[in-house]
Amino acid sequence: MTRRERPAMSNLNPASPLRNWLADPAAGQILRGMLASQGQSEEALSPALGLPLEQLVKMSGGKFPAELVDVLVTAAETGEIPEGLPTAPPAAPAATAPEPGIEIGTPEPWTERITSGRFAGQTVVVTGAASGIGKAVASRVVREGGRVVAVDVSGDKLADVAAELGGALVPVTADITEPTAADTVLAAAGGRVHALANVAGVMDDDAAVHEVDDKIWQRVMRINVDGPMYLMRAVVPGMLAAGGGRIVNIVSEAALRGSAAGAAYTTSKHALVGLTKSSAYQYAGTGVQVNAVAPGAVATGIQVPAGAPYGSARTAKMRVAIPGLAMAEELAASVTFLLSADAVNLNGVVLPSDGGWSVA
Ligand SMILES: NC(=O)c1ccc[n+]([C@@H]2O[C@H](COP(=O)([O-])OP(=O)(O)OC[C@H]3O[C@@H](n4cnc5c(N)ncnc54)[C@H](O)[C@@H]3O)[C@@H](O)[C@H]2O)c1
Repeated sequence: MTRRERPAMSNLNPASPLRNWLADPAAGQILRGMLASQGQSEEALSPALGLPLEQLVKMSGGKFPAELVDVLVTAAETGEIPEGLPTAPPAAPAATAPEPGIEIGTPEPWTERITSGRFAGQTVVVTGAASGIGKAVASRVVREGGRVVAVDVSGDKLADVAAELGGALVPVTADITEPTAADTVLAAAGGRVHALANVAGVMDDDAAVHEVDDKIWQRVMRINVDGPMYLMRAVVPGMLAAGGGRIVNIVSEAALRGSAAGAAYTTSKHALVGLTKSSAYQYAGTGVQVNAVAPGAVATGIQVPAGAPYGSARTAKMRVAIPGLAMAEELAASVTFLLSADAVNLNGVVLPSDGGWSVA
C-alpha cells in the first residue's frame, strides 16, 4: 500500500460525480492511472465530469470494471492506494488559465424528484423502452402512476425492464419499421392512449453525403422517421376522438445543426422535426399536442457504427463544444414534462435538453 496525505474522511460514494472522485488525492490518482494505461487522458473524460462514477462504469463496456468502484471507495476512505495499480498524478494546471473574476462553485448534483400520481389513470406508449432514454422515460411514468406500453425490438432487454418495473408495464416486442407493429401496440394498449413517446432511434456512421451507404441510410430513415410516423398515424384518431393526447418525438442536436452527426442521421432528425411541426399545426385546437425533445450527448447504450473517414473527421471538430454528457434520467425529466398535463399550451415546440450546447 502507498499512503497518501489526505484531509478528513471521504464522503464519496458510487453516486458521487466523477469530478469529485478525480479531486480525491488517492482515488484521483487511481482513476488517472487507469486512463493512462488505456492511452487516454483526464481531458478525454471532461464531458463526463458531472456523471456519477457508477454511470461511467456502466457505459465503459468493461474498461472500468465494477470492482474498481470498491477499490476507489476504499482508497478514498483510507487514503491508501493498493500496490500494483497504475497511478498518475493530477495534471499541472494550465499556466495560462485565465482568472474568471468571480467565484464559481462545484455544480450541485441533480436528484430526480418523483411527482406522485402525475400519470395516474393514463396509458403511455414508449418506444425504445428497453434501453437508455426510452427505459428511463418508461420507468419514470410507471413510478408516477402510469401504465406504459413499452415497445422495443430487443425482446430480451425488454423482458428485463418488465421484470424490473412490474405489472404497470406492458412489454411489446416489435420492430417499429413494420407498419403492422402499430396495430399490435394499439391492441396492447387496449383502450385510450393518452400519450406517445417516440424514443427508439439509431445513429449513423457520421458519413458525409458522398460517403453514404444505402443500407445505413435506409435503416436510419426507417427507424428514425417511418417508425414514429406509423405510430403517430395509429394513435392520433383515438386521441382526436377522446379530445386530447400528447405526443413527444425524440430528435437530437442533429435536428438543430448540421455538425452533430452524418447526413443520414441529421436528415432523419430534421424530418422528425418536420413531422412534429406539421402535426402540431394540423391538430392545433383539438387537444392533441405534438412536441419534440432534442437531446445533446447522453450516456446510454446507443451503438455508434464505425465512423466514415471524411464525415467523422469533420464532426469530431465540433464535439469539443459539448458542455457535458447527461444521464438518461435527466432526459426523462424533460420528456415526461412534455408528456404530462404541465405541457399545457405547448404545441410544436422543439425543446433542446442539452445543457446549452445548442446556444454555443
Ligand atoms: N444517446 C445520445 O447521446 C442521444 C443524443 C441525441 C438523440 N438521441 C436519440 O434518443 C433516442 C434514444 O436513444 P438512446 O441513446 O436511448 O439509445 P439506445 O440504443 O440506448 O436505445 C434505443 C432503443 O431503441 C430500440 N430500437 C432500435 N430500433 C428499433 C426498432 N426498429 N423497433 C423498436 N425498437 C428499436 C433499441 O433496441 C434500443 O433499446 C434515439 O432516438 C436517439 O436518436 C440520443
